[in-house]
Amino acid sequence: MNPLAVTVAGVAFPSPLVLASGVMGLSASSLKRVADAGAGAVTTKSCGLEERKGHPCPSILPFEHGLLNAVGLANPGVEEMAREIAEFQARSPIPVIASIFGRTEAEFGEAAARLLALVRPALLEINVSCPNVSSEFGQPFAADAAACARITSLVKARADGVPVAVKLSLMCPSIAQTAKACAAAGADAITAINSVGPGMLIDPHVRRPILANQVGGLSGGAILPLAVRAVWEIARAVPLPIIGTGGVTRPEDALQLILAGATAVGIGTGIYTCGLEVFGRINAFLTDWLAREGLRSLDALRGAAHHPPPAEARHG
Ligand SMILES: Cc1cc2nc3c(=O)[nH]c(=O)nc-3n(C[C@H](O)[C@H](O)[C@H](O)COP(=O)(O)O)c2cc1C
Repeated sequence: MNPLAVTVAGVAFPSPLVLASGVMGLSASSLKRVADAGAGAVTTKSCGLEERKGHPCPSILPFEHGLLNAVGLANPGVEEMAREIAEFQARSPIPVIASIFGRTEAEFGEAAARLLALVRPALLEINVSCPNVSSEFGQPFAADAAACARITSLVKARADGVPVAVKLSLMCPSIAQTAKACAAAGADAITAINSVGPGMLIDPHVRRPILANQVGGLSGGAILPLAVRAVWEIARAVPLPIIGTGGVTRPEDALQLILAGATAVGIGTGIYTCGLEVFGRINAFLTDWLAREGLRSLDALRGAAHHPPPAEARHG
């Protein structure tokens, strides 16, 4: 038996480590590279109804504690993404999570339907939480629990039985309440968190913001404590599997998210800072850790930092 195997909304992942949306998720070949590196599932770049060019460069800015990004949901549109997913599925057994977004609530349902007419991913992930598009679309949907619930219902109605994960942000009054609203609307899993902010960095020599978009979402090591806290609160609020995401670069970071209640662990910026080897390194660590602790699976660690431990199982 594979000790690292986990189940998210009925989908079997051979490792809890998941490629987070937006990093290496645009093409079948880059998804395949991540799967081959040891990811237990891969998430596509979020795609919408139409191709989107996104924000001008520089749009990605590394700094000591992570990244600022203002990619602005650049993507080829659902039809092209469906072709990449189908090609990936022909080349890899690793489950693929298709991330979709909409500019309006109705567009989320439409994007799900158009994607699923062409391909059947293992899971759909609804990105209600991109911090880079608020200037064009107003507040991110994630700021409004009722809007998240309506979007969840719309997508569930068109998902044709494919499980739906809702990707939440901390840019809301209470991430636990938002997760509850999504659960009541039929969400099968919660992914948390998206990048945080937006933030800004200024080049003191030219006295201007460095990103062309001026502001961008913060990700990487700086947000790990926020992600751990978010997963902790969501795990207490809803009995859904959680894909805990944010700031994971080291094995202990992944373990913290699992102990807070995550079933799976997303990695995005960790690929920029540590390379694709990050997946193999964390898998090896978790396997050794389980053996040392005399555990046959991650089940006993999931949510173990809660006292008393959560009553309900958080997988499946
Ligand atoms: C360059 C970049 C692009 C991203 N694009 C998306 C996206 O298209 N959809 C999405 O849901 N999240 C997107 N994210 C957010 C990540 O999936 C993740 O939630 C966030 O970065 C926190 O995880 P990390 O610290 O491991 O990167 C993006 C992040 C980065 C750094």
